[in-house]
Amino acid sequence: MSELQQTLVLVKPDGVKRNLIGEIIRRCEAKGYVVLDLKKIQPSRALLEEHYAEHVGKPFFEPLVEFMLSGDVVAIRLEGHGVIDGFRSLAGSTNPTSAAPGTIRGDLGREWGTKVVQNLVHGSDSPESAERELGLWF
Ligand code: RTP
Ligand code: MG
Repeated sequence: MSELQQTLVLVKPDGVKRNLIGEIIRRCEAKGYVVLDLKKIQPSRALLEEHYAEHVGKPFFEPLVEFMLSGDVVAIRLEGHGVIDGFRSLAGSTNPTSAAPGTIRGDLGREWGTKVVQNLVHGSDSPESAERELGLWF
């Protein structure tokens, strides 16, 4: 029995540029989750470095931050029982080439030969991450 939770969903710059904001929110709502809050912003480098603090020092860190700085991002506070794992399941695995069909990344994403994989969405990966990330973005 999953608890009522909130998670942070981001539509990344590739999703915004490809006009997939509505399709991504549609999938969340069709699943039964509720959009409690949402905003479109151009995040600062400082916010992104905090957000992705767990990846500091990895080879893809700088390309990842550059990609996330490349355009607007939509931040969504999404609510539902089990929504943290549930949204990760809707999103699919990190690499869109191998993400399962039926998922956001599997249906709508692909590799484009960029330095860092562009995969349309972010979702918090644990209750601790969700609390921390929602505090950063909202
Ligand atoms: P996210 O945090 O963005 O929701 O994605 P995730 O949990 O599926 O993946 P994570 O491991 O947290 O990585 C964050 C983002 O960094 C890029 N990445 N590239 N080996 C690589 O080239 C690599 N690994 C990760 C992806 O853009 C990933 O979404
Ligand atoms: Mg992650």
